Amino acid sequence: SETDKGVYPYYMLKEIDEQVIVAHTLSQYYFDDNAQIQNIDDDIISAIKAADRLYIVAAGTSYHAGLVGKRYFEQWTGIPTEVHISSEFAYDQPLLSQRPFFIFLSQSGETADSREVLDNVVKQGYPSLTLANVMNSTLTREANFALPLLAGPEIAVASTKAYTAQIIVEAILAHAVGNSQIDLKNELAKTAVEMQVIIDQKDEFKAIAEQALRGQRSAFYIGRGLDAAVAVEAALKLKEISYIQTEGFAAGELKHGTISLIEEGTPVFALLTQSKTAGLVRGEIAQVAARGANTIIISGKKLAKKGDAYVLPDVNELLMPLLTVIPAQLIAYYATLDRNLDVDRPRNLAKSVTVQ
Ligand code: G6P
Repeated sequence: SETDKGVYPYYMLKEIDEQVIVAHTLSQYYFDDNAQIQNIDDDIISAIKAADRLYIVAAGTSYHAGLVGKRYFEQWTGIPTEVHISSEFAYDQPLLSQRPFFIFLSQSGETADSREVLDNVVKQGYPSLTLANVMNSTLTREANFALPLLAGPEIAVASTKAYTAQIIVEAILAHAVGNSQIDLKNELAKTAVEMQVIIDQKDEFKAIAEQALRGQRSAFYIGRGLDAAVAVEAALKLKEISYIQTEGFAAGELKHGTISLIEEGTPVFALLTQSKTAGLVRGEIAQVAARGANTIIISGKKLAKKGDAYVLPDVNELLMPLLTVIPAQLIAYYATLDRNLDVDRPRNLAKSVTVQ
């Protein structure tokens, strides 16, 4: 059945593999024979178009998917978009624009922190949409609109396929609202093929995880722009299941403090897929390397250099997060196995947090 581990030792590995469901998602949101959208109500599109600002609200990994989605909404719809952590927004609501539209992101649809925000938003009379994996959940029922992530059941505590599914559905939605020239259906289909290529190279990430992380107590993920957005998710994956204290942050911030933490052998994973900032990130990598860091560079093909640990296939730069996150998920998985820990059930964590 769908919730059976089958041949897999852990749900997390199964769910990493299932990320190529992009193709299925596309078949649900686009007509077969052309690039016309289906299953997104016209009312949703017009409600978003009527907004002067979008507020994405979420927790955990879903919040990180929002950081990526913000780029799609801003780039393709031209509507300024803010991303907020639900537990903060609930008790420290920022000053809103005249015509806000709320987008809730959630795997479970039951996260209490996000529900608290939705309650407040409904009381204030603002329109809302929930993108969730579990439909007919509290967040999907109580928002004005809901769209499914179509990732299939996610069981492992560490979220993987829900993250990529959120990015895909955000992209499809932003593209449907906007008037960009890119052939998103085709670009996403190409991306799905490349996701599979990476997933089929698990041994490479097992080797990287064992080489870079065995015996280490801390690690860093750095990147700029969309790579910074993925860096925080990559760091969360690694720390939450392997218990290696990992920070993910904008590479340009290194020099403002964090670089003092770099010691001989400190693992620093650098994500390098955005051409505008590739030169700067190369410089930042050189700075940590000069202080003894073990730099592990995951680069896009056209930006790759000799010595990079893994070279990702090239897809549209905006869609690179769908590729970049997979090595991070697999590195987290193998680092955790290497420590003989239960990948699917990290201590102190729950799959769905239904208390505030
Ligand atoms: C929990 C889970 C995380 C998840 C977060 C938000 O903390 O362990 O994996 O990202 O809740 O959950 P949601 O279901 O709202 O996406």
